[in-house]
Amino acid sequence: MEREEMLTLTNVHKIYNEGKSNEVVAVHDVNMVVYKGEMVALMGPSGSGKSTILNLIGGLTPATKGTIKIDGVDTNGLSNEEMTNLRRDRIGYIFQHFNLLDFLTAEQNVVLPLLIQGIPNYEAKRKADMLLRELGLGSRIEHYPNELSGGQEQRVAIARSLITTPAIILGDEPTGDLDQASAYEVMSMFRRINREQGQTLLLVTHSEEIGALCDRIIRIDEGTIVETGLEEN
Ligand SMILES: Nc1ncnc2c1ncn2[C@@H]1O[C@H](COP(=O)(O)OP(=O)(O)OP(=O)(O)O)[C@@H](O)[C@H]1O
Ligand SMILES: [Mg+2]
Repeated sequence: MEREEMLTLTNVHKIYNEGKSNEVVAVHDVNMVVYKGEMVALMGPSGSGKSTILNLIGGLTPATKGTIKIDGVDTNGLSNEEMTNLRRDRIGYIFQHFNLLDFLTAEQNVVLPLLIQGIPNYEAKRKADMLLRELGLGSRIEHYPNELSGGQEQRVAIARSLITTPAIILGDEPTGDLDQASAYEVMSMFRRINREQGQTLLLVTHSEEIGALCDRIIRIDEGTIVETGLEEN
């Protein structure tokens, strides 16, 4: 059976500060596919281009060259507004540095994406509280980010990315700041939503143990994919 492609990168290059003395080729001619319903790990040394790839897929930075398709849609053909809508409606993004809003409580951070979608406040709050409790933060709902530990902030960021039930979840080291037990809990939660809701996940990790919990591992080194985890033809 032919598997459907959810994320398709074709000959993608990313050069930061192109033509300047501080030019960096972060991603070089990357070809990569993530199929619908897969849970894939993206692994590689520090500086190898993992965050850059996630940022490119999430439309946070434009590719210098190449094509990125999301669920068959070529993002090069989208206007800024269309890309923003696609990101809002289809993609959950867990940032490497959380990006929580300091002046909002844990709960307020988590409900925000739903409020932006026009979901009523009471319904958004109910969903947020459920997710936060599931992530072991039931007693931290009213806390502000600076009153939380790094691992707790990370779990708030995870709840925020999951609350809209996005078809695609991009996680930049989503378990990087968690102890082993919490990391495994988050991974089993990811696996559960992957099975139950068919969500597609692309997770950056430095941990081989976490990578092994995924369907396959894509490895990148110096901006180039060195292993796809697929049976090569
Ligand atoms: N905004 C930027 N401007 C210039 N260079 C950048 C920028 N962002 C990243 N880089 C460079 O691009 C390369 C890839 O960075 P990237 O953040 O994608 O690596 P990474 O694999 O996520 O690393 P880590 O595991 O440390 O998070 C690095 O050499 C980095 O210094
Ligand atoms: Mg990174």
